Amino acid sequence: MRQVTTVVEHLLLQQKERPLASGRFTRLLTELILAAKIIDREVSKAGLLDVLGGTGEVNVQGEMVQKLDDFANRVIIRRMERVGVLCAMVSEENADVIEIPHQYPQGDYILVFDPLDGSANIDANVSIGTIFSIYRRQGGSATGVTLSDVLQKGSMQVAAGYFIYGSSTMLVYTTGNGVHGFTLDPSVGEFLLSHPDIRIPEQGKIYSVNEGYTPYWDPTTRKAVEYFRSCDNALGRPYSLRYIGSLVSDIHRNLIYGGIFLYPADCRDPKKPTGKLRLMCEANPMAMIVEQAGGMALDGRRRILDIEPDELHQRTPLVIGSKNDVLAVQRIYAEADAEAR
Ligand code: AHG
Ligand code: MN
Ligand code: MN
Repeated sequence: MRQVTTVVEHLLLQQKERPLASGRFTRLLTELILAAKIIDREVSKAGLLDVLGGTGEVNVQGEMVQKLDDFANRVIIRRMERVGVLCAMVSEENADVIEIPHQYPQGDYILVFDPLDGSANIDANVSIGTIFSIYRRQGGSATGVTLSDVLQKGSMQVAAGYFIYGSSTMLVYTTGNGVHGFTLDPSVGEFLLSHPDIRIPEQGKIYSVNEGYTPYWDPTTRKAVEYFRSCDNALGRPYSLRYIGSLVSDIHRNLIYGGIFLYPADCRDPKKPTGKLRLMCEANPMAMIVEQAGGMALDGRRRILDIEPDELHQRTPLVIGSKNDVLAVQRIYAEADAEAR
């Protein structure tokens, strides 16, 4: 009979090497998994329920809120505020830090999340996901959680992961001890270990970027993207272009097959000079995962996990994936910077 390993069994095995706060982390992840199962249920029936389309509201990101964005956000907040191990939450959909109501026990973990990533794709039935990042509060203080407690750089993450609601529903996460994938078996309602120790190939054959924005990139970014479109690269031939427009799906594909994803800075929107993706809710968790799988994640020049956040929802360019490909982009930016000096 095939050996099945649940997330909790895997966590307990992992914690031998790298003990997190005993059962508290396990309780956090177990509750987050329940929230994801509830979201997955709505996503899988989206066409049948009144959860498609927009709510008519605009969120702190200046984006139209999809009904499923709002649903996923409420489910995660409601479930996680009472789990008794968090002192604060940050959601892509909420302008400010979400405090834990005083009627619930407080903990010292901080959950940062994108409740639904790729939501522009919902109505087209394209894979979407939930991204999460977990920090521990540094230095306890009697007063409530402050913004500085939350604004920690990505290298301080205790864990990071994503759920992908696709042809199968998966959980991929790391606690700093490798990257592990679990597939939801609907017949038992459990995520079972299906991809132990995921490693991203050092050399990819896929590049993933929204080429429609080429006119809005700076010359060095165009040169970096041209590298993958040309024959003058590590492969000696053009890479395949794959772009789903859902970060979780694009990153997951590259994690499994190898490849590079780029969301560069562009001048489309003066309010977003460093591109669309959010450092805390998207780039940091994905950077921890890809680095733990043997890849790299930069803003083009700097390691994503070293960036000190100034604001909750600050954005960053993102160049992430197979090590050799990210290094090639880093060299192109470094050469341009050296010439400019
Ligand atoms: P979200 O749905 O959480 O706002 O994220 C959407 C993001 C990300 O998933 C994806 O990589 C990117 O938007 C696609 O942006 P473009 O449509 O500008 O290419
Ligand atoms: Mn997102
Ligand atoms: Mn989102």
